[in-house]
Amino acid sequence: MPEPGGRVIVVGSAGVDRTALLAQLPAPGETVLTPRLLVGFGGKGSNQAVNATAMGARTAMVVKLGEDADGAAVLDDLRAAGVDTSEAIADAASPTQQAFIWVSADGENSIVVASGATGGLTHDDVAAALSRLAPAAGDVVLTCAEIPRAALEAVPAGIGDGATWVHNAAPAGRLPAWRDRPPILVVNEVEAEQLTGLADVEAAAGVLGASTVATIVTVGAGGALVADGPAIRRVPAPTVEVVDTTGAGDAFCGALAALLVQGRSLPDAVARAVAAGAVAVTALGARGSLATPESVARLLGE
Ligand code: RIB
Repeated sequence: MPEPGGRVIVVGSAGVDRTALLAQLPAPGETVLTPRLLVGFGGKGSNQAVNATAMGARTAMVVKLGEDADGAAVLDDLRAAGVDTSEAIADAASPTQQAFIWVSADGENSIVVASGATGGLTHDDVAAALSRLAPAAGDVVLTCAEIPRAALEAVPAGIGDGATWVHNAAPAGRLPAWRDRPPILVVNEVEAEQLTGLADVEAAAGVLGASTVATIVTVGAGGALVADGPAIRRVPAPTVEVVDTTGAGDAFCGALAALLVQGRSLPDAVARAVAAGAVAVTALGARGSLATPESVARLLGE
């Protein structure tokens, strides 16, 4: 039986990030040297899960990892952060996910994700894990598009009445079919344009908002746009010094899910999640700076 109280249940990706720090991002065909290499844990799902725990939410993760040293280290990391890994699946046939990340001096990045075991997460894996975790009223199921679309499509039928689904469509691809269980959708500006073909971010937010419970478009230092009705609201971001934007979207999503579980209204949760994303960009690496309720309150001047 699930324990009482809301949980964040992340159905997502986890692996190891290898980050090279460069003066500027390389052009196609260019080779650049750098002495600065950072190896750490990542994958959008695990970043979301660890950020949700840092914001104080009870968190579980459904994830597929290789049966290798990286997979074992990822599991240890999740457990050390307080994430319930009882639904972690071992895949003997594929390596644990790895991401290769370039970060330029001005904090911009490009990322290649070699999915490995994450790409083997199936519809049946997710359906079985959700039937055991039994997400119910007060729980938030948080997904991202680093897992296969078929796996995502197990979510609408796997969540009980009253549970909330937050889907981060990153990286952008075809959205999963959600039939009569639409999610709260989170995308960044680039993903909003890729999904709608509309360069105007407000227009894109409006289109996506019409078929979801709400759509939130994160716009970096500009904060976020929220489309949850006829009007589109802008939520400003606190000003911080940007070191590395890697993982800012994951921090936003993990914090948003945690805050919804804690009973915050959507507008309040979005304002705090924007601040959590701002905390994340102040240090190197996807996990360099985890937001807490205290750091978020400080940034919001409370
Ligand atoms: O969003 C940042 C994450 O994207 C990194 O941790 C990397 O693993 C990729 O999945």
